[in-house]
Amino acid sequence: MEEYTSRSYTEEEKGTSMSNAVQVGGHRVRCGNLTEGLGDLMGGEKCDIFYTDPPWGQGKLKYFHTMQSALDGVQDSPLSLPDFLDCLFGLAVANCKGIIIIEYGEKWEQNIRDAGDRAGVQFCGMAYPTYRGGKGLLPMHLHVYTMDPDVQPDPDYYGRVTDSHDYEMTRRAIAPFVVPGGIILDVCCGFGNTAKMALKSGMRFYGQELTQARLDRAVKLLGRHA
Ligand SMILES: C[S@@+](CC[C@H](N)C(=O)[O-])C[C@H]1O[C@@H](n2cnc3c(N)ncnc32)[C@H](O)[C@@H]1O
Repeated sequence: MEEYTSRSYTEEEKGTSMSNAVQVGGHRVRCGNLTEGLGDLMGGEKCDIFYTDPPWGQGKLKYFHTMQSALDGVQDSPLSLPDFLDCLFGLAVANCKGIIIIEYGEKWEQNIRDAGDRAGVQFCGMAYPTYRGGKGLLPMHLHVYTMDPDVQPDPDYYGRVTDSHDYEMTRRAIAPFVVPGGIILDVCCGFGNTAKMALKSGMRFYGQELTQARLDRAVKLLGRHA
């Protein structure tokens, strides 16, 4: 989990287009808006782990749209949180064959549960870990769903994950579902925290991100290990 602050970007950092997918070794990323789908990112494959930390809440959605506009000239397109979550779950259901894990702040737990119900995806449970924010460790809610009744967290999973934070939380959250050579998909992949976990777990990383400047950092990270 990371904190966002506004700053000015160099011309080089500013992306210019919503491009097609870029292959980096066995990994693949794409600059794009998840509400418009994943383009050619998946190439007909499905991921084993769908892990994402989407922009938090309606206010933050507007914040990210505004930031995107400053970076890439993309116009502000306000979207309600339920509509955004329906897009997110739609992508998860269409592109995942295993476990779905969504990181979100405590304020939006019910919105996520409602969207999961609308998508008809099987809910497994919640973990309540923490992340390091400006004011120390802050609460986070981790929502776990499955696309395969045989792929389920074990009974101790939620306690193990709840008792962790930051990178260790993500590591524990995905550990039981790692498939060597399989795919972790993050449709809001930012700088690449999920990508790091994929690299550490011997999995391929597929990611999409709205902001080219952020995606470039994930590409750099993946490139060092391609
Ligand atoms: C909470 S951050 C996730 C950070 C990420 N885990 C990382 O390692 O950097 C949410 C990310 O979602 C991206 N985002 C916001 N709206 C999006 C959209 N409509 N489609 C794709 N990505 C989006 C933001 O640019 C931001 O990088």
